[in-house]
Order: sequence, then structure tokens, then C-alpha cells
Amino acid sequence: MLIVNRAGLIGITFAVAPGKELRVGSLIREPSGTVRFFVDDGYIALGKERPLVSVSWRGANEEETVARLRATGDKVMFGGSLPSFFQNLLPEGALRELVEKEFGAGAFDNFDVLAKLGEDLPGALIARLEAGSPALAARVDKQPATKPAPSEEIRFSLAGVQLKFSATKRAALTIPAKTGDGHLILKTPSPQHAFLPEAEWTALRLAAAVGVRVANADLIAQEKIDGIAAEYLLKGQRSLSLERFDRGPEGQRIQSEDFAQIVGAMGDQKYTKANEATVMNIVQRFCYDGRGELLESVRRIVVNLLLGNGDAHLKNWSFLYPRSGEITLTPAYDIVPTFLYGDAKMALEFGGTKDPNLVGLRRFERAAGALKVAPKVIIDQVIDTVRKAVHSWPPIIDEAPLPSEMKGKLLSRLSTLSLVREVVSA
Ligand SMILES: Nc1ncnc2c1ncn2[C@@H]1O[C@H](COP(=O)(O)OP(=O)(O)OP(=O)(O)O)[C@@H](O)[C@H]1O
Ligand SMILES: [Mg+2]
Repeated sequence: MLIVNRAGLIGITFAVAPGKELRVGSLIREPSGTVRFFVDDGYIALGKERPLVSVSWRGANEEETVARLRATGDKVMFGGSLPSFFQNLLPEGALRELVEKEFGAGAFDNFDVLAKLGEDLPGALIARLEAGSPALAARVDKQPATKPAPSEEIRFSLAGVQLKFSATKRAALTIPAKTGDGHLILKTPSPQHAFLPEAEWTALRLAAAVGVRVANADLIAQEKIDGIAAEYLLKGQRSLSLERFDRGPEGQRIQSEDFAQIVGAMGDQKYTKANEATVMNIVQRFCYDGRGELLESVRRIVVNLLLGNGDAHLKNWSFLYPRSGEITLTPAYDIVPTFLYGDAKMALEFGGTKDPNLVGLRRFERAAGALKVAPKVIIDQVIDTVRKAVHSWPPIIDEAPLPSEMKGKLLSRLSTLSLVREVVSA
């Protein structure tokens, strides 16, 4: 990627209903490559009618909210990236590589990537290049890519590193979904990590068994998937299909934002810009049902420890804004027992450590202090979640579509992790 010395303007709208959009602001690329976001006066003037875009732009009262919407510090980025709220809407890994291949050899930057994918982003925002900006088509190189492209040009963005596609399911599961039509995410097998769709599907089931609200997921045999180059399905027998929580049954878009957007984390700062206590604090502070969602976040943290999920970074925590004033955690997603693939550390620090074996009840108790919650409330939730896991997970693991070596590792972790031993012996 090069810095593009070309001015441009992307209009940002909020899809309030199918076919109905509300202007939020303008993203402007200056000739130097610097990108700034300006919130529209019309959106600001809406007051209480304003649909929520980001909790980081919301204050304790209207005056403070307007000040945050007008503040410039968090709405500018130099050097070819976008202000972090927008940068975090773009794919990072394998999907990003496919998109880059479609651009070909010419100079392009993240502003161009957003312009290309902007009709189908996570959440309810739509980003569209506006008149006067150089036409995107002129910049997309149509030369055949070295890897087979999915059968149509990519026009959707899903964040994250792993390869995934936007899909629909009527009779068969079909990729790619027409822009804006995708109500499913399909995560295809990984060339690097065997049985990844199966491991993620199993992890979601295990999380649900201890009371975590999870995204609806299905394992799909490759022969039931239409419209994608066979090469993407070669590395395993099944793909993982997830119902999108940011799309409604009639194609409505529901605003969501991940915690990297909320704290302004760019790139690898998703591992460092906050810790588990900050995550719980954000949940308690912003959610409509602060106490209920705090306990949900405790369950999720315990599940990540018990499952050896070392990738629960800030982009794997998100809020959903289904109705005015309602802020909830999204269903849990991207729960993967990464320790099966050699990644045993926690993604975020907890009380100064990333070693899951050092996390016991004491650290939760200290976190409760910082959250100004009675420690017993948190500790009881931890104990209850661990007990439920010890009781309900073994039969689910036994039945899982995973090789026996992986099942053995999951079971053995469940009996040896220090938190489990502490709870069981208490
Ligand atoms: N069920 C869902 N509905 C809507 N959006 C989702 C859903 N699941 C995941 N997402 C969004 O898509 C992004 C990527 O999904 P996911 O985290 O599963 O992918 P990943 O590539 O494995 O991520 P990572 O980079 O963390 O490994 C998430 O950060 C989230 O914003
Ligand atoms: Mg993820």
C-alpha cells in the first residue's frame, strides 16, 4: 500500500431502514494522504433523535455529546490509514489480501478500500465516494489475480484476520451475497489451522452450555456451498456459517461497534490498549442493563480461560445498538480454543498477566473492587460458570467433530487449569 496523493470525499450515512439513510458526516482525504472525519451539522442538530454511531462520541449530557461529535483529535489519521473508528471497519488479513489483489499494482490506500467496500460494512453505516472524487473504477486493476478470486468482485467488508465471505441462504448457501444482502458470514477452512471451523463451532456450543449468549452458527459441508472457487474449501470438510447479528430479517442494518473502535485502538493495539478489567468496565458503564451484561462479560472471560481462547482481543468484543438508547453486548463470536494451535497466552492482560494459569478468583475479586461491585457478585458468577463447565462440557466435547487428540486436550485443560482446581476444591 502506498500513500495516495489524491483528494477525495466519502459520505457516511446511517441506514435507519431499508432504503432510508441519514447523513452522519464526511470523510475527507487531503492531498497529503491525511484523512479527517467531520460530523454533519444536520446529524448533530437531531439531538435525542440521533441514532447512536459510537459510544465514544456520546457524553453524559447533550452538551458533552455535541462536544465529542465536534472534537477533532480522534477523527484524524495521517499516513494512509483512516481515523481508528473507520479503520476498524476494514478487513485485516486474508480478505484484505484478496481485496488488495483486486486493486492490482496501482497506488491505493485505506480510503480507497473503504470506498470500494463501503456499501456493505459491519453495522449500520454506509460509506460512499461522492461526486468530484476520482472514480474508483479507474483505480481497480482488472488483471487476473494470481489466486483465484471469488466469482465476483469483493464489495463487502468483514473485519478480522481469517478468511470469510458474506453469504445468503435460501435453498443453498450462496457466496458472494449481493452487496448488502448477506445475512450470513461464512468462515472457510484455514490452510494453517486444521479443523478451525469445527473447533470454533464446538467452542460456541460449550460457551452456550454455561449460559453465554452466542451467535447462531452451523457447520456446513463444502458441497452445500455455491458460488465460490473450490480452492477456498480444500483445507477441510466443513465451513462455519454464522447468522449476522448486525442485520435484521428484512435486511435492516443494526449498528454495532467493536471495543477497538470504542477505545481508539489501531492494528495490534487491539491486544494492548485495554485489559480484561477495562473490558468489564466498558460493559458496565455503557450497557442499558449494566449489571446483567457485566455478569455476561464475566462468563465470557471465564469461558475464554477454560477453553484456552488466546485471541479474545478488543475486536472480539462488540456492542449492538438495536433501538434508541439500548446498548447491549452482541452475541459472543470468534471463540476459538487457540491453545490447540499453540497460542496459549491470553489476548488481554488480566491483573498484569497474560498467563491463564495465573488467573484465579483473587484477580476477579480485585477487578470487582475497581468496578465498585461487591466482590461476591463477580466471584459467584465465576464459580457458577466453572461448575457448569465442569459438569456440562465433557459430553459435548466427546461428541464434537474434532480429532480425539484435540478432544483430549480440551478435556485435560478443563480438569487441570488452576482456576478450575481452585473452584472445585473450594
Ligand atoms: N455473527 C456475527 N454477526 C455480525 N458480525 C459478526 C459476527 N461474527 C463476527 N462478526 C464481525 O466480524 C468480525 C470478524 O469475525 P471474527 O472475529 O469471527 O473473525 P476472525 O477473522 O476470526 O477474527 P480475528 O482477527 O479476531 O481472528 C468481528 O470482529 C465482528 O465485527
Ligand atoms: Mg475476530
